[in-house]
Amino acid sequence: MTGRGASDQPVSYRLLGAGDGLLPAKGVFCATCHGPDGKGGRADDIVIADITHVTLTRPLPASPPWFRERDPYTDATLARAITQGVDSSGHQLDASMPRWVLSPSELRDLLAYLKRLGHQ
Ligand code: HEC
Repeated sequence: MTGRGASDQPVSYRLLGAGDGLLPAKGVFCATCHGPDGKGGRADDIVIADITHVTLTRPLPASPPWFRERDPYTDATLARAITQGVDSSGHQLDASMPRWVLSPSELRDLLAYLKRLGHQ
């Protein structure tokens, strides 16, 4: 909800196709796009994924609003999606999803937080 790590500094990300440059996540965080409830939605012609735990851990079919099917996420594939932008079936995610640069402990905290999303 803040884009800040445990040290209270903004975390960084890279954008696919924008080189290796690190962009500080100033004012941009998961909830900016996925919403505070993680349910995502639509922004113009982009479908923003639902990242609640129930949805991430089930397979998605290639039917609207999803354009590709994907396997259920595990902790390992979820970490890969967040940091490398590759989904649970090995497909590149859309360039609008930032590739986050997180320390191991920040990633662990984020995965624990995502597991609670949608379960409150
Ligand atoms: C600038 C907007 C934006 C921000 C900020 C953002 N995302 Fe995303 N994210 C997206 C979009 C758009 C997609 C769907 C990409 C696609 O369909 O290829 C996505 C996809 C995902 C997926 C893959 C879901 C699936 O079903 O395969 C996960 C997981 C995810 N985001 C987690 C996060 C997390 C965690 C954060 C914060 C650390 C975050 N996102 C921040 C836009 C964003």
